[in-house]
Amino acid sequence: MKLLIINGPNLNMLGIREPGIYGTEGYETLCRMVLDHAAARGVEAELYQSNHEGDLVDRIQAAYGNTDGIVINPGAYTHTSVALLDAVKAVGIPTVEVHISDVSAREAFRQVSYIRAACAATISGHGLRGYLEAMDLLIGDRA
Ligand code: DQA
Repeated sequence: MKLLIINGPNLNMLGIREPGIYGTEGYETLCRMVLDHAAARGVEAELYQSNHEGDLVDRIQAAYGNTDGIVINPGAYTHTSVALLDAVKAVGIPTVEVHISDVSAREAFRQVSYIRAACAATISGHGLRGYLEAMDLLIGDRA
């Protein structure tokens, strides 16, 4: 089984950006956690991060036919991007949306998620652990 873990804009700044909201662990720590978890579960995982909407669309499209599940934290594009929603719908790969913070308890503009309509589940507010929970959901779906 192959999982793709996608992070959108500013998630490369984890550990630096608003640590009171996103924590003090950096993106490298997240990558290590995801890869360790994949190894423990006996699945393959690849991580991708970009600050650019079109690059994220390209990466989702490139997953077509070779990836069994996607975990995606689209960052701010969650609240703006129909293109990412359409990309996930286009490839038809089971996808789980993750947010490190509890977006439901934040600003009004964060209450809309376009991508949610294409996702099997949303995990929000569980910190970096949310990515591992999302992986488990996809692995469980498959088992
Ligand atoms: C986020 C929440 C978004 O509203 C924000 O724009 C992010 C990160 C989260 O992980 O909590 O960049 O997706």
